[in-house]
Amino acid sequence: RIAGPCALVIFGVTGDLARRKLMPAIYDLANRGLLPPGFALVGFARRDWSDEDFGKIVHDAVRDHSRTPFREDVWERLSEGLRFVKGSFDDPASFQELASTLATLERERGTGGNHGFYLAIPPDAFPVVLKQLSEAGLARSNDSQWRRVVIEKPFGHDLASARELNAVVNEVFPEDTVFRIDHYLGKETVQNILALRFANQLFDPIWNAHYVDHVQITMAEDIGLGGRAGYYDGIGAARDVIQNHLLQLLAFTAMEEPISFEPSELQAEKIKVLSATTLAQPLDETTARGQYAGGWQGGTRVVGLLEEDGFSQDSTTETFAAITLEVDTRRWAGVPFYLRTGKRLGRRVTEIAVIFKRAPHLPFDRTMTEELGQNALVIRVQPDEGVTMRFGSKVPGSSMEVRDVNMDFSYGQAFTESSPEAYERLILDMLLGEPSLFPVNAEVELSWEILDPALAAWAAEGKPEPYEAGTWGPPSADEMMHRTGREWRRP
Ligand code: BG6
Repeated sequence: RIAGPCALVIFGVTGDLARRKLMPAIYDLANRGLLPPGFALVGFARRDWSDEDFGKIVHDAVRDHSRTPFREDVWERLSEGLRFVKGSFDDPASFQELASTLATLERERGTGGNHGFYLAIPPDAFPVVLKQLSEAGLARSNDSQWRRVVIEKPFGHDLASARELNAVVNEVFPEDTVFRIDHYLGKETVQNILALRFANQLFDPIWNAHYVDHVQITMAEDIGLGGRAGYYDGIGAARDVIQNHLLQLLAFTAMEEPISFEPSELQAEKIKVLSATTLAQPLDETTARGQYAGGWQGGTRVVGLLEEDGFSQDSTTETFAAITLEVDTRRWAGVPFYLRTGKRLGRRVTEIAVIFKRAPHLPFDRTMTEELGQNALVIRVQPDEGVTMRFGSKVPGSSMEVRDVNMDFSYGQAFTESSPEAYERLILDMLLGEPSLFPVNAEVELSWEILDPALAAWAAEGKPEPYEAGTWGPPSADEMMHRTGREWRRP
């Protein structure tokens, strides 16, 4: 589907996100023919830029980061709808200026008076921008013109602050016009969890506590935090990605089948499963946190967090976090969900591994099954997108020896279609008013409710355990698994 006429206003247009993700995604959408002629992109910032300067910035961002080839004709058409409004967030006159730019675009470009406002700015600036939009009369939809707001995480730093933030947002934009970005939901492989589970007969009968031993959700990154202290220090791994991305992955993996893929039905199932999810206790045995120290990565020496620019010497920010969750439903009672994430780990990989119980009986000589592990279904979210099924197979030869083998589905081999970038998909959905892939208020608050006890316990603990860069996290992460007789996968 092609988006209808509209103007998208980006606040925070000078930031990294706008340059690396948003501008390129908008160009890619235009290139794929998914934006209408009546589309305009408006940048709002304090810089002393003209429309032409802004055009140059967008052009460079597109050249450096877009996924589709550069086409002069597509760029021409897009650039005719680029405008820049110089202004500051606390100045009502700047918002009058924005309103008049939008009105001109409506007349001249045919945007239909439909406006999306993308807040790619720190959350402490949300209240003032929202208030200004409201006072400039820009926030109210009517029967023929829509107004929507897009917000980026962090959606608060705990349950109480998330509630406050949601109240501030909803005061100006009603919930059905709020689009919260969790870019993991824009990933093809994440949406495929729903296809895998609900389009097939193969998996559902064994997708429960009778057959599943436990689930491991891993989001490992090899990058460090150089240059990100401003955002990350004091936030840490759990708030950065467990509260949002990893709990959304858990929700997709554990939820019941929705009646349909109508947004409200999908949200209802996610809300149900998140409501049933809690941290396993006691927290000192079921969670782990760490902070990377110096080490080696990809053959180069890298520094520890405390030596990265901008981090204070006594920073207690965790760069690794692991938690154990219980999902108290009939389907999952007694099945632990282990979630872990970290920076400067062995390699970049995100996966969901469903680990099955052992066969109740093995009619083999014991020495013949020493290399047989537990069956596993691994959803490879990235970078090598696909699904792996791991099971035992007879080793060729005269004895009945059994060893684990992998059966792989890879996107690259199975499909010729390319996957759109997550932001492309999400921006298009927002312009279409299609909210399925955006977490609602209730999901955000439930996620904080799940995580808050661990955050409080960790805050009282002080310094996280150091781990060497390039390894798989602190020893306590392994100990936490060993206590239950389990091991983390080494992807
Ligand atoms: C962001 C986090 O949400 O996701 C970053 O703030 C993280 O810390 C990034 O690096 C990872 O995204 P992706 O798509 O590369 O897995």
